[in-house]
Amino acid sequence: MDQKLLEDIRELKAQRRAVLLAHNYQSAEVQDIADFCGDSLGLSIQASKTDAETIVFCGVRFMAETAKVLSPDKRVLLPDRRAGCPMADMITAEELRDLKAKHPDALVVCYVNSTAEVKAESDYCCTSANAVAVVESLPGDRKILFVPDQHLGRFVEQRTGRQMILWPGYCTTHVLISEDDVLQVKRQYPDAVVMAHPECSEPVKDLADALLSTGQMIKFVQDSSARRFIVVTEIGMIHPLKKARPDAEFFPAGTRGVCPNMKKITLEKVRASLADLEYQIEVPEEIRVKAAKSLQRMVEIRPGN
Ligand code: 13P
Ligand code: SF4
Repeated sequence: MDQKLLEDIRELKAQRRAVLLAHNYQSAEVQDIADFCGDSLGLSIQASKTDAETIVFCGVRFMAETAKVLSPDKRVLLPDRRAGCPMADMITAEELRDLKAKHPDALVVCYVNSTAEVKAESDYCCTSANAVAVVESLPGDRKILFVPDQHLGRFVEQRTGRQMILWPGYCTTHVLISEDDVLQVKRQYPDAVVMAHPECSEPVKDLADALLSTGQMIKFVQDSSARRFIVVTEIGMIHPLKKARPDAEFFPAGTRGVCPNMKKITLEKVRASLADLEYQIEVPEEIRVKAAKSLQRMVEIRPGN
């Protein structure tokens, strides 16, 4: 480990009065220098209540944008400007307006993996940790448009028994994990508990013992007496799980669960970001105010699933 690099980051952090937030899919070394690691919901809550001047978001653009929407007076930095989420770009605000025009009486629930413009067009935002609780909180007689992740949407339909109109978006990383990937590792470790993220395809989810957000996976292994787990999500997740249960073994389902965008953030880029104050995330005020409403509702609804 480059001690000088770590020292530089520590000094710059103090100089900029910065807090470092990292998603559970970040590389181990980035997670290890962060002030907070967590899932999208946990990081949104941290971003909304921090008193730091600067937030360095080690994750992807929609997460940094969410932090800016919730904390407009803070400087929010994304260490690599190309770190986007393909799923978030699968629906535009214009496409959502067209969909709403076809279903004028419907409520719109958007997954936090979306642009600020799409959040601004939505009634409620949700993460994978609270999507079920958000949909359950809506009046039973209202039609629901769920965007952009069809797989999370189907999971919510199953859990709530409510039919929704699903946008056909998906995570380009999670859909690469196949049934075979899971079955192979299951054959090797038949006693292991299978945890999968709701963004996985339906046949993969059918093989899981538990469907959980990344933050819920940590809680799940802490509460479990099992000693072996198969982890069906992005590979970065293994690191916080091992920290949470050093006595347990964790096996990824194959090698394809790698989000290239999450992995764009490196310690060198974190240092450069703090030194040069780049790349600053800005959201036009008119969009920010509207997006904040749907996000605020999300932060207020506690995960019940
Ligand atoms: P979590 O909110 O479960 O951390 O998921 C975020 C994400 O991007 C999953 O692909
Ligand atoms: Fe987006 Fe999928 Fe990467 Fe999550 S894992 S940031 S949903 S591409």
